[in-house]
Amino acid sequence: MDYKNNILETIGNTPLVKINKLVEDIPALVLAKYETFNPGNSVKDRMAVKMLAAAEEKGLIKPGGTIVEGTSGNTGMGLALAAIVKGYKMVCTLADKQSKEKMDILRAVGCEVIVCPTNVSPEHPDSYYSVAQRIAEERPNSWYVNQYDNLANTQAHYESTGPEIWEQTEGKVTHFVVGVGTGGTISGVGKYLKEKNPNVKIWGVDTYGSVFKKYHETGEFDEKEIYPYVTEGIGEDILPKNVNFDIIDGFTKVTDKDAAVYTRRLAEEEGMFLGNSAGAAIKGLIQLKDEFKEDDVVVVLFHDHGSRYIGKIYNDEWMKEQGFM
Ligand SMILES: Cc1ncc(COP(=O)(O)O)c(C=O)c1O
Repeated sequence: MDYKNNILETIGNTPLVKINKLVEDIPALVLAKYETFNPGNSVKDRMAVKMLAAAEEKGLIKPGGTIVEGTSGNTGMGLALAAIVKGYKMVCTLADKQSKEKMDILRAVGCEVIVCPTNVSPEHPDSYYSVAQRIAEERPNSWYVNQYDNLANTQAHYESTGPEIWEQTEGKVTHFVVGVGTGGTISGVGKYLKEKNPNVKIWGVDTYGSVFKKYHETGEFDEKEIYPYVTEGIGEDILPKNVNFDIIDGFTKVTDKDAAVYTRRLAEEEGMFLGNSAGAAIKGLIQLKDEFKEDDVVVVLFHDHGSRYIGKIYNDEWMKEQGFM
């Protein structure tokens, strides 16, 4: 018999899928690392399980304890699956700009969900970062995950996502393009690929309203770059420890409108029903087209599934309200 012992064992070994119509003008082979095949429908399952295992090893959480995390939804989902299998309680804090679907999905897998205001600074006591920290301090036997600064996040991608991409492309990958939030994906995959071949180029996709691109180019943390934006999952108003700027060759910024429009184009033209940051990632890749030559193999990673965006990106009324349609 061929079976897994629990749902967590199905994480990883996701397919690489060729993108066709949307990249017709790009001479290179463009392949999507298609992370929605993970059981929580996002890449974040990988790092969630790794961060929990590392915390267990260090004795930071004991049986029956409570996992607390601030999340845009996907990390919470991965942690929730792990919590169920391993017997923990799970509390998630989310910013109120995150889609209602993400909140409902977390409740469906047993999370206590606390919604916090988006438009406050990270240090504000009501921010989803501060609320998560406070809950973890107040509740006995609880552990604050902190995916931003918890380096087991990067390590998960160094140990699994990076090697998978290297092996699936038979070492032919020349460029890796990916949206950056906590930085775990780009830093872990980037480090692995550059160790295998220092010539591989690592490109981050950022959003307007986020500090990453300017910080990478100038070393300045410019608060003037920070303002509310619509795109979910990428960009930050902080510098997470998981963003290893040294292994990143460059950033490109994608507008909220382009990210939304290209998310829909992926569904309509490629049959790839994906989340908001996938649209940003493919548009960012298209913006970089002069970087790619005919024999190049460009891998773009798609983080999460379209079902989480039914009320937003895939809703015509919402798209019109935003001025995106
Ligand atoms: C939908 C989505 N896209 C992109 C990202 C960014 O990935 P990372 O945090 O590894 O930089 C995340 C993670 O927060 C996400 O949930």
